[in-house]
Amino acid sequence: MSTLEPKYHIPGPKSAELLALSDTYEPGCTSQQAPIVWDHAAGCRVWDVDGNEYIDWTSGVLVTNVGHCHPQHVEYIREQAGRLLNPYDFPTPERVTLARRLVELTPDNLDNCFMLTTGSEATEAAMRVARRYTGRHEIISFWGGFHGRTYGAMSMAGKMGTKKNFGPLMPGCIYLPYPYCFRCPFRLHPDECGFFCLEQFADRIIEVSSTGDLAALIIEPYQGGSGFIFPPDGWLSRLQEWAKERDLIFILDEVQSSFGRTGKMLALEHEDLRPNLLCLGKGIGSGVPTAALLAESRLMQSLGPGEMSSTTGGNPLSCAAAHAVLDIMAEENLPENSRRIGEYMLGRLQKLAEEVEVLGDARGKGLVIGLEFVKDMESLEPAPDITEEVIMRCCERGLLVGKVGFYGNVIRVAPPLVITEEQAEQSVDIMAAVVRSL
Ligand SMILES: Cc1ncc(COP(=O)(O)O)c(C=O)c1O
Repeated sequence: MSTLEPKYHIPGPKSAELLALSDTYEPGCTSQQAPIVWDHAAGCRVWDVDGNEYIDWTSGVLVTNVGHCHPQHVEYIREQAGRLLNPYDFPTPERVTLARRLVELTPDNLDNCFMLTTGSEATEAAMRVARRYTGRHEIISFWGGFHGRTYGAMSMAGKMGTKKNFGPLMPGCIYLPYPYCFRCPFRLHPDECGFFCLEQFADRIIEVSSTGDLAALIIEPYQGGSGFIFPPDGWLSRLQEWAKERDLIFILDEVQSSFGRTGKMLALEHEDLRPNLLCLGKGIGSGVPTAALLAESRLMQSLGPGEMSSTTGGNPLSCAAAHAVLDIMAEENLPENSRRIGEYMLGRLQKLAEEVEVLGDARGKGLVIGLEFVKDMESLEPAPDITEEVIMRCCERGLLVGKVGFYGNVIRVAPPLVITEEQAEQSVDIMAAVVRSL
């Protein structure tokens, strides 16, 4: 059957029944976008409860980096589950050896680790450490930034959707423009702007927003929630210097971008960044809730014993999952697969963007690619309706995609990093057929 023709009627009867139950008993529990209910998954494939099979471009929203139910991952988790689940106040071999592996994986200024369970906990923890160490309270973040949904993390969001009607927020949040070059608010081009947003504009915002008590700056290497937006080359290293010049703690939020996603183990490797605090999450457990804060020991020492704690942080099951992820990443060289397959997919998707006007932009690194849909290239007016149409048409043809973005008009291309050449080709064929049919 041609990839142009729909294969499935969405939702199938079993999915429809379970979605109705979900709407009744846990409405809004997910931001599930294609109306299907997942049953099981393997590698880069997902099956719904009606038996329909999809190639997955979501990775369960950038989590299952080593692929769904990777046999080695499952084996480590099974073995650990039968041995020890949670000793809370006591270290375990899995925890201490994982801490060492994470410290060894990250830049050498980061010599301490603290284990947590969710990404929001990691960004909250980073802000706590930065405030305690500096004795100051203001934290800079960026327009469109996303760092989680707990109160501190939410307060740092530069995205109205995350915090609307949840005020008052944490005091001391200051927001600077992020280089969303496709929609530059200053109407400048990255090749000749001289990083205007940072060099000419940031201090003006600080002048009118800060009480003179700046502690830290938190940023994602690319903006995930706002639409896979990548800063121009060199911008992040310049930002790191800029933060140093102002005596700010530099917090890099790699909850989403780490563990091979951008074609390197950590996104900071693209520009040799050396943050003072680094937040990890999502892909570190590849589906088992796990997160970590990596820190310079001089910063961590500002906290006393037990001042930062989490009941399930560093639990043996999460640590076993993270050990499996590290082993699989190395044995299968997944960051390199991410780089190589990502380059192929991005190349084809960029050609598609040149051909079809409503696909305004295709951008990315490794296996994190954003497809931004617009009404036309002159107005660049966001087209969330077209984006939704793409999601449904892809789903009917066996490709599972989701949308994201400041305007809800960006399709995520973020398959598990184990995606094969054949799956990449087949799935881009489906997307190309759908986009051409709009
Ligand atoms: C960059 C970033 N930081 C923090 C978080 C929050 O992580 P969690 O949902 O695990 O709390 C996310 C989640 O999407 C994220 O993308």
